[in-house]
Amino acid sequence: MGKTSAFFIKTAVNLISRSKLSVLGGVMTSVLAPVLLICVVLDIRGTVDNPYFGFLIYLILGPLFVLGLTLLIIGVFISRGKEDIGLFTFEYIEEQLARPGRYTRIRRHILLSLFFTLTTLLLVILVSYTGFHYTESTSFCSQTCHQVMGPAYATYEHSPHSRISCVQCHIGKQSQWLTKAKFSGVKQIFAVLFNTYPRPIPQPITSLRPVRETCEECHRPEMFHGDKLYIKDRFLPDEHNTHVQTALLMKIGSGGYLGRKAHGIHWHVSEDHPVFYRYTDQAQEDVSQVWLQDGGQEIRFSKTSPTAKPAAPSVAGTVRKMDCMDCHNRPTHVFLSADEALDEKLVTGIIPSELPFIKRQGLQTITPHYDSADQALQEISRGLKEWYLANYPDLVNHDKTLLDKAIAGVQQAYMENVFPAMHINWDTYTDFIGHKNGSGCFRCHDGQHFSENGQAISNACDICHVILAENEPSPDVLGLLQKTLQHQGQP
Ligand code: HEC
Ligand code: HEC
Ligand code: HEC
Ligand code: HEC
Ligand code: HEC
Repeated sequence: MGKTSAFFIKTAVNLISRSKLSVLGGVMTSVLAPVLLICVVLDIRGTVDNPYFGFLIYLILGPLFVLGLTLLIIGVFISRGKEDIGLFTFEYIEEQLARPGRYTRIRRHILLSLFFTLTTLLLVILVSYTGFHYTESTSFCSQTCHQVMGPAYATYEHSPHSRISCVQCHIGKQSQWLTKAKFSGVKQIFAVLFNTYPRPIPQPITSLRPVRETCEECHRPEMFHGDKLYIKDRFLPDEHNTHVQTALLMKIGSGGYLGRKAHGIHWHVSEDHPVFYRYTDQAQEDVSQVWLQDGGQEIRFSKTSPTAKPAAPSVAGTVRKMDCMDCHNRPTHVFLSADEALDEKLVTGIIPSELPFIKRQGLQTITPHYDSADQALQEISRGLKEWYLANYPDLVNHDKTLLDKAIAGVQQAYMENVFPAMHINWDTYTDFIGHKNGSGCFRCHDGQHFSENGQAISNACDICHVILAENEPSPDVLGLLQKTLQHQGQP
């Protein structure tokens, strides 16, 4: 045993020491090994809580270590012992050891080499394993590429999905997705390094777009049922910032389950009657044709006037099978409009609604285009202070806290939705869930997509929701509900 390992070490040392490349690789690995080991242990134990720490370990030190190993091996193969730099050759070591009393050292050397080989192996395994997991973490996705992912992360943090990780949506389970994701990820890292990424990132995204199966890991729309009450709180731009409410009974419906037929809004997700559509623009908003396969039958709707004959199946555009993403394209990265953003802060009291005209003045200060976030914050503060000092001097001089609170709230509404560095302004991203500006559902449900026998995809308001109240101060229907609940002993 001693002999063979001695021979092994002899050959290895000779080979390595005779190539400059290998010596360089050897030095790199032996210097990096202990550093890396300590870092990985710290990282696994969670001692260091800094997103860049992972970046340092798995994207800089790790690859450098692997590079060292590679150099070492390449050097051995290239030189095959031909190059001789005369440093620490086996003969030298042998001569050293041949001196009296040094024999015992050979054993120590063998043990040491074995130890180093094993730790190297262990390290490579450890770093690849934890490194892989690091690239799956939310901190890798969002904080490493701070500016690019800033908006995605900021919106994610306030979304119902903030407790699931980015990869649970953006990287599916199947391995072909995983490979695709890692390749696209490497491409993206380069785009960030060389500053070639698009600003804003166009919607819809071309790679890593979640697919239906991803959402269905957690949600099962075929099992949804019934209607659901949606209440929207709004504030009018008047002196009292009047609080009004819209109440909609949303026909959530179901994709059909255990003999129950698909109906309502989630009727579209049933596999029994897939819906396809053809769009002609990048944003998928111009829908020229929609067709529905029901049994052996196909119903085709084309965007025409009711009297004109429907166009022949057009070949222009791209065809897509409808899935969750055609309505829920913003389940997480929800960018609000300026109006909604302020309403949200008003309803939660972050902006005090007691301050007269704050809705109107807030809107006036957050809607202009600003070149940078800093400029926006300054202008919002300056604009509001100026206006209130001019128009409500008593109120402001008497108690400054109200105005300061309002300014902070308006600034927050801005910061959560507008990202000048990424060229994201109000309304850069369209949410398909409703029908703002004739988009979303109204891409098809606009009453202008007709079948051959002249029937349009319905745009009747009540196929999707019953409007119980629209922008009313204290709607009767909500009062009634509240009374009923109180009557039953619920708050
Ligand atoms: C619930 C699922 C979900 C989660 C969780 C999620 N995303 Fe997304 N993400 C989406 C969808 C859906 C889109 C829009 C797809 C489209 O329109 O093509 C998107 C789009 C994006 C975009 C493109 C810009 C945009 O807003 O359209 C980026 C960048 C992004 N996500 C990054 C992230 C990061 C970083 C995280 C974690 C902090 C994350 N996502 C978490 C579903 C998710
Ligand atoms: C890993 C599990 C998981 C995945 C994957 C997932 N979600 Fe969710 N989703 C949740 C949870 C949990 C909630 C409920 C959060 C709550 O009620 O606070 C939720 C809530 C929602 C809601 C209700 C939001 C609201 O405002 O109440 C919608 C809509 C939704 N998800 C759509 C999607 C879509 C579309 C996808 C695919 C892109 C998806 N989800 C992927 C776990 C998931
Ligand atoms: C035709 C458009 C459409 C499609 C397709 C669609 N949804 Fe929805 N979904 C809606 C609407 C509209 C609502 C209710 C309004 C809202 O959430 O703002 C809703 C609500 C939900 C909710 C919340 C349900 C609740 O009871 O609160 C979840 C979760 C959800 N959808 C998941 C999905 C998943 C997963 C898919 C794909 C398999 C899907 N949806 C496909 C339009 C759609
Ligand atoms: C790509 C086109 C398309 C989009 C986008 C679309 N729908 Fe539809 N929808 C259809 C077609 C086609 C039908 C079936 C024809 C009909 O019933 O008029 C339909 C039918 C419906 C029905 C009736 C289902 C039943 O019980 O028969 C509801 C409700 C509905 N859609 C709601 C929505 C909502 C809400 C949205 C937006 C969140 C939406 N749709 C977006 C194409 C679309
Ligand atoms: C194809 C389905 C569909 C049709 C048809 C439809 N709506 Fe809607 N509408 C929706 C959905 C989905 C939402 C909820 C969006 C959300 O969750 O923010 C909505 C939201 C609304 C809101 C609340 C907007 C807000 O945020 O304050 C009003 C008001 C409204 N619809 C009115 C109408 C009227 C009036 C009609 C008839 C001309 C109509 N809708 C037809 C699907 C539909």
